[in-house]
Order: sequence, then C-alpha cells, then structure tokens
Amino acid sequence: MLFFSLLYIFAQYTVVVSAINATSLSWYDPQFPALNATPREEVFARRTYFYVGGRYSNGTGGSVITDQMYVEKLEPQVVLHKYPIVFITGGFQTATVRTNLSTCKAAADFHIQNWLNTPDDRTGWASYFLSQGYIVYLADHVKRGRSPWIVADSALLNTTATGLTFVQDYFIAGERTKLWPQAVLHTQWPGTAEVGDPTFDQFYASQIQTAPNDGPFSQTVVDAYSALLDKIGASVLVSHSQGGPYGWGIGDARPDLVKAIIALEPEGPPFENQVQRTGPARSYGITTAPITYSPAVNLTADANAFTKVRVNSTDPNLANCLLQAEPAKQLPNLKKFPILMYTTEASYHAFYDHCTYSYLVQAGVNLEWLQLKDIGILGNAHFSFMEKNNMEIVPLLDMWIQATVK
Ligand SMILES: *[C@@H]1O[C@H](CO)[C@@H](O)[C@H](O)[C@H]1NC(C)=O
Ligand SMILES: *[C@@H]1O[C@H](CO)[C@@H](O)[C@H](O)[C@H]1NC(C)=O
Ligand SMILES: *[C@@H]1O[C@H](CO)[C@@H](O)[C@H](O)[C@H]1NC(C)=O
Ligand SMILES: *[C@@H]1O[C@H](CO)[C@@H](O)[C@H](O)[C@H]1NC(C)=O
Ligand SMILES: *[C@@H]1O[C@H](CO)[C@@H](O)[C@H](O)[C@H]1NC(C)=O
Ligand SMILES: *[C@@H]1O[C@H](CO)[C@@H](O)[C@H](O)[C@H]1NC(C)=O
Repeated sequence: MLFFSLLYIFAQYTVVVSAINATSLSWYDPQFPALNATPREEVFARRTYFYVGGRYSNGTGGSVITDQMYVEKLEPQVVLHKYPIVFITGGFQTATVRTNLSTCKAAADFHIQNWLNTPDDRTGWASYFLSQGYIVYLADHVKRGRSPWIVADSALLNTTATGLTFVQDYFIAGERTKLWPQAVLHTQWPGTAEVGDPTFDQFYASQIQTAPNDGPFSQTVVDAYSALLDKIGASVLVSHSQGGPYGWGIGDARPDLVKAIIALEPEGPPFENQVQRTGPARSYGITTAPITYSPAVNLTADANAFTKVRVNSTDPNLANCLLQAEPAKQLPNLKKFPILMYTTEASYHAFYDHCTYSYLVQAGVNLEWLQLKDIGILGNAHFSFMEKNNMEIVPLLDMWIQATVK
C-alpha cells in the first residue's frame, strides 16, 4: 500500500526541495513527499451530491422544507485515508444575488471561499487532497448557494453582500490601505487586485450573499453539518473564518465524529470585534450560538456567566485580548480531538489570533497553533488557499493530519 501510495503521489506531482524552519513543530517532516510540490494535473474524482438536514414546516403556501444543506462529495479513484476532509465553507460561484453593496458590515458577512480551482485557474486545496487520496466534501452553508433560500423569509431581509473596497482592504490588497500592522507584509495575491484584472474579477464574482451571523442562524448551519457527519461518519473538518465558529459548534455537537479540526483563521477574537469593526461579538467566547462549557453557561439565564479580563499586549503589533478570568470555564467536548489553528503572516488575523489561541488554551483544548511565518512561509493574507503559494502551504495540513489523526 505504501508503495502504491508513493506512486500515486509522484504520478501527480513534481517534488521541489526547499528549506523550511520548523523547529517548534514536532510533526513537521521535511521529507514529506508532497511538500512544496508542483501540481501537474487534476486527478479523476467521482462526484455525487446530496442534501442533509432541514425540517418540514408550514409556510404560507403549504408545507415546505427549510434549512437543508447542499453537499458535494468528491471521491478519488484510490482512497488512501480512513477519514474524509469536510471543508466548512461558503458557496462557489453558485446562484448568487447581490443585495446592497453599501450595507456590508463585517468579515462575517462574506463567503468568498473557493476550495476548487483558484481565481487564476490554478489547482485548489480540494484538488490537492483528492490527489493525495482523501475523499473531500464541499457544502454550501444553509440558505446560501445551492442550499435553498426564500427571500421572503424575514431573516434573509438582512442579507448582506460584499463591498468592493472592503474586499480589497481586508482580504486581497491590505498592503495598500494598511488597516492593521501586518498588512504591509502581504505579497502573495495573484494579480493586481483591481477591477478589470481577470483574477480579481473572478474572485469578486464568486462572492455570494449571506444571512445574518446570529446565534439561531448559526445553529441551523451547525445542525446541518451534524446531520452530514451522522450520514458520512467520522471526518476531519477544515474550517475558514466564519466557518471557524461553525466548526467549534459541530465539534461540540458531534465530538465522537469529529476526528480533528483545522481552523484556518477562525472568526475571532473572543467576545469582541477588532480591526474591521468594534464592539461585542461571539457572546459564547468563540461562538455566537450556545456551546457546551463546564461549568455550564446559559447566557439567556445569566448574561454575566463569564468573568472576562482584559489582557493587554506590550507589542503594538498585537491586539489586546478579552479572556476569561481564571479558573476559566472549560470546553469539554472540544477537548476530545486535536485542533490545529492556522494564521498567515499578513492577514488581519495576525493582529489578534493570539487572543483566540490563548482563549482555547485556557479552555483546555488540545490545540496547536501553526503560524506560517514560523516556518518561513511569508506574505499571505486571509485567503491563503487561493494565493500564489497555495500549493506550498497545503502539504503542511496533510502532514499534520497524518501525524496527528489516528
Ligand atoms: C529556526 O528557528 C529557530 C527558533 O525560532 C531559530 O533559533 C533558528 O535560528 C532558525 N533557523 C533558521 C535556519 O532560520
Ligand atoms: C402543517 O399543518 C397541517 C394541517 O394543520 C398539520 O397536520 C401538520 O402537522 C403541519 N406540519 C408541520 C410540519 O407543522
Ligand atoms: C443600500 O444601503 C444603504 C445604507 O443602508 C442605503 O442608503 C441605500 O439606500 C441602499 N440602497 C438600496 C438600493 O437599497
Ligand atoms: C435586521 O437586523 C436589524 C439589526 O440587527 C434588526 O433590528 C432587524 O429586526 C432585522 N430585520 C429582520 C427582518 O430580521
Ligand atoms: C437557558 O435559559 C433559558 C432561560 O432560563 C431557558 O429558557 C432555556 O431553556 C435554557 N437553555 C438551556 C439549553 O438549558
Ligand atoms: C488595555 O486595553 C484596552 C482595550 O484595548 C484599553 O482600553 C485600555 O486602556 C488598556 N489598558 C492599559 C493599562 O493599557
């Protein structure tokens, strides 16, 4: 099997040797076959789709099903890994509606994730995992993309779309407006990040509307992914940004079916917004929907259940954090599987992800934090999986999964 596995990999990739400093990461393996590889061709994968979750209710026109979620399964010819990868993501150039470009408010309002090919038509991370023998699941979150939604549904009246300058300022050209200290380090976006650049236009066109990021809505997404795991069995989750809190919720709801979570710059920091806007957020620390703590927290019954402390940084390049006072309430379900949190060098998350990391450590979670700069991968922002060096990065995740998930 090993022999076949290597053959399979080399059939798809040319390996390029590069020196990366990973002294602090015990799982890092410079001999890993796909490290820094150059993808040559897409592997064949069998594609099927199905819907999960949802519930029947009586609408004005009779009985309807709502909150079901579209899922696509991509299965390579040769499956080499026991657990599939489930990307926690938004839609990919699906039936999109722009509502009102001037009302965009926050990163949480955006779903521009693209795990398939990149906007400049290079191989994406889903293809990488397929080439390495993983089954991959891609879903459009509830009420987005191919997961049906009805505009008359009141919650969707607050649907927001992505503003052009917001996308440029925070995601793909932060080095121009420098709204956080690390932004100047960004170099990896493929293209000029201007309207008229074909890569930019593809990227911007892939963005879709999204529903409000409140607790009840988030719970419908968590419920749908929980139904997915009930159907497909134990899996590894790869979440990004707003998918981060969904991933925590799914891990909390199905701790025995989540084998690991890789959280790419999960939405944060704890209890408040920073950089893009300010003020309270994520009332359950890392989530807006309720999540299991020990001792238990029910903010409806006790709005002051958390005792928060402000922990200030002496480094002006790093945010001041809101954490729990000790003894911190624990996240017992999220302790049951390993978690890799991931932050790039130049993302706005580089300013505050240490707050999320510290919060999770306080809460007793089995967590490692991969900061790309620590292993010499520089210049990425929030959408690293579609940036120029995306294929240099993704073998690290594969490596971590193979070293950690048993
Ligand atoms: C690798 O990282 C360690 C710890 O940060 C540092 O001491 C060392 O100088 C680095 N080595 C290289 C070759 O960059
Ligand atoms: C819808 O209404 C009908 C008729 O009142 C009722 O029998 C049925 O149980 C209702 N279904 C749901 C899902 O509430
Ligand atoms: C879009 O939202 C802005 C800000 O709320 C508002 O002023 C404007 O009228 C809206 N435009 C449309 C077409 O609804
Ligand atoms: C839209 O959001 C605002 C602010 O959160 C809220 O007050 C309002 O009730 C929402 N409207 C709908 C129709 O959900
Ligand atoms: C949280 O507290 C509210 C108000 O006391 C109660 O209605 C609700 O059932 C509680 N939720 C849980 C999950 O216990
Ligand atoms: C700590 O950080 C908070 C929030 O950034 C700030 O309001 C406060 O003044 C800081 N305190 C000190 C002592 O610097």
